[in-house]
Amino acid sequence: KERRLSLFREANKLARDYFRQTLKTHGAAANARKYLARREVTPELQEEFQLGFALSEWNSLLGFLERKGLTPEQAVEAGLAVKNEAGRYYDRFRNRLIFPIWDATGQVAGFGGRVLDDSLPKYLNTPETLFFSKGRLLYGLHLARTAIREKGCVVVMEGYMDVVTAHQHGIKNAVASLGTALTHEHGRLLTHYSRDVVIAYDADAAGEAATARSLDLLEELGCQVRVLRLPDGKDPDEFLKKHSIQTWETLVNGAPLLFQYKLEQAAGARPLKTPADKLEVLRQVFPSLAGFSSEIEREEGLKQAARTLNLSWETVYGEFKRLKLISG
Ligand code: GTP
Ligand code: MN
Ligand code: MN
Ligand code: MN
Ligand code: MN
Repeated sequence: KERRLSLFREANKLARDYFRQTLKTHGAAANARKYLARREVTPELQEEFQLGFALSEWNSLLGFLERKGLTPEQAVEAGLAVKNEAGRYYDRFRNRLIFPIWDATGQVAGFGGRVLDDSLPKYLNTPETLFFSKGRLLYGLHLARTAIREKGCVVVMEGYMDVVTAHQHGIKNAVASLGTALTHEHGRLLTHYSRDVVIAYDADAAGEAATARSLDLLEELGCQVRVLRLPDGKDPDEFLKKHSIQTWETLVNGAPLLFQYKLEQAAGARPLKTPADKLEVLRQVFPSLAGFSSEIEREEGLKQAARTLNLSWETVYGEFKRLKLISG
């Protein structure tokens, strides 16, 4: 297994260098360079993030790896090639912009490849194996480590481009969970660096679902979680290209704690006309309140719920006790 791991790493490092060289110099990468320029990814950023390009040929990387002494079978093991039913090998990544994905120490752990147009799938990854698992990697962590410690805070985003653009704007404490829900492993990884976590997911349905699903576990790991809300369907990349860094900072500083976020989500999801509407909101947020380990947090939460629903704190507290009795 040790040998397989070192082979995996060596092959991925070779591929990273090959993709980078291709992006910088190959005539057939002109479109990729144009694409990056259009998205305002400067050559300096391309360098920092080791971006590359995979040609649209079927075996250009395979050929390169073979010249470096690797067999096609080893390329398959490294997730860089595929073997079809007829037994022929071909490059996994073709005609895609390449984002290397690193582990926390900066070793290449795999790749994400993006199409240059609207075709699907938009991104293709190194296949999930013992050696590459998105649930255990946070994109950009090794570039963000120092800034996370310095600022005492980490910003978790969804995608590659969000982190790249964040860095361009001086937000260097940003990492991405690469579209997957945050896992327990992600959470543990974060707590090694900071327990102050700002979630900056896309302001779309997928982002909101991912937010709702995965944040309780961060709190269970002892993190303070705040949820940044971006306006009208944007992601951090789009937002930062349109707005000043001051506007971003204002959003971060105003980001509500997870409980407030959930409360506002629940209250915003329905009209608050009838007592039943208000009771439903309370039913949705009470489990979080019950989960708080501190009475102070619980009281603050009850007060926030009362304010949001325009009820007295005594009423909300009364319902809390009553519903806890009923359900417990
Ligand atoms: P851009 O369109 O390049 O700005 O990417 P994005 O990061 O905004 O993409 P999106 O918000 O759609 O998805 C967020 C993240 O989820 C991406 O950065 C990827 O890591 C991941 N993702 C999105 N689409 C796919 C897909 O089709 N396949 C895989 N494997 N991952 C995806
Ligand atoms: Mn999205
Ligand atoms: Mn996005
Ligand atoms: Mn985007
Ligand atoms: Mn800007």
